[in-house]
This record gives sequence, C-alpha cells and structure tokens, in this order.
Amino acid sequence: MSKVRDLQDDIASIMLSADVIQQRIQELAQEISKDYQDEEDLLLICVLKGGYIFLSDLSRALQRPHDVDFMAISSYGNQTKSSGAVQLIMDLKEPINGRHVLIVEDIIDSGRTLQYLHDSLLARQPASLRICSLLNKPSRREVDVPVEYMGFEIEDEFVVGYGLDFGEKYRNLPYIAVLKPHVFAHLFE
Ligand code: IMP
Ligand code: MG
Repeated sequence: MSKVRDLQDDIASIMLSADVIQQRIQELAQEISKDYQDEEDLLLICVLKGGYIFLSDLSRALQRPHDVDFMAISSYGNQTKSSGAVQLIMDLKEPINGRHVLIVEDIIDSGRTLQYLHDSLLARQPASLRICSLLNKPSRREVDVPVEYMGFEIEDEFVVGYGLDFGEKYRNLPYIAVLKPHVFAHLFE
C-alpha cells in the first residue's frame, strides 16, 4: 500500500473535463492567431503559479511565432477567499515597451489581481495589452477589468486543477474540479 494518497480521492466532481478544456484552447488559439495576424511580435505573459498549465497548452496550440515571459503574483495565501491585497513576487525578465502583450491567467475572480497586473503593465507602455483568462467567475467581480479572451464562465464555486490550487496542491490534475468538503475541514477547526 502506498503511503501517499491519490488526489482523485479528494475530488467531489469534475466541472470541466480535460477534453473540453483542450477543445476550447484550440478555439482560443485560432481567435488569437486571427486577431494578431498583422503583428510580427507577440509576447505571452504567464501569471504564476496558476497560469503555468494553461500557458503551456495555449502556447503549443498557437501555430504562429511568439515569446513567453513569466511573472509571479500572490493574492490568495492558503485560503479560498481573496484577501484583496496583491503582491508582486517575481517580475518579467525583459522590458515590454512597444511590444504586443497578452496576459495569460488561470481565473478572474474579484478582478483585483488582473486589475493590478493590467495597470502596472500598461504603465510600461506596451504597443498593445490584452488579457486571456481560462476561467471567469462573473458573480464575484468587484472591479471591472477588460478580458478579451475567456475560456469558460463558471459558477461561484472554489475549483482546483489545471494549474489552480488549494494549499498549493491539486494543480497537476488535467481537469477543473470541485473538492470534497472534508478537504476544507481543517480551515474551520
Ligand atoms: P482575484 O484577484 O480575486 O480575481 O483572484 C484571482 C486569483 O485568485 C487567481 O489567480 C487564483 O490564483 C485565485 N483563485 C480565485 N478563484 C479560485 C478558485 O476557485 N480556485 C483556486 N484559485 C482561485
Ligand atoms: Mg493565480
């Protein structure tokens, strides 16, 4: 018997299957390719950690040339509710002035993380700046942020998988899922 539990034992239900996600990413890649067809330059900025799986699939679905860079932001800690405070943990490697920049994020919830990112990147004077988010929880929005490319709208439920974590775990699940209540139990002890 293995000492390590199976992540799937903590899953209550699958909200978006791996196939459904991959299908949608192909559509998003086509849309992005079309919109940027006249631009030589395209830079995808991955918002760590949550965006790393989405970035790698979206990047591979794009047939056109593009660069990638990474930025790390913290807004959640180990809780399931946003603190509202956003902190820059790691900055981009290169300047972005004059470049066509597309931010790749896992989820837009209150909108505070993306508002902070959008405003701080805009101040660096890119040629253009757009946002691509895999998930959107519209019912939780507190601030208005323009999101040009959206994968899926979901209900106000805490989800994990495909880059999204709870307490740093579950990011490696290939689908988006809801956890069983017992997983959260220690938060209320
Ligand atoms: P916002 O600043 O409230 O829009 O929160 C965005 C960030 O919160 C995302 O980048 C995620 O890291 C995290 N987050 C929001 N909702 C969820 C969720 O349902 N599961 C896991 N992380 C989430
Ligand atoms: Mg995140």
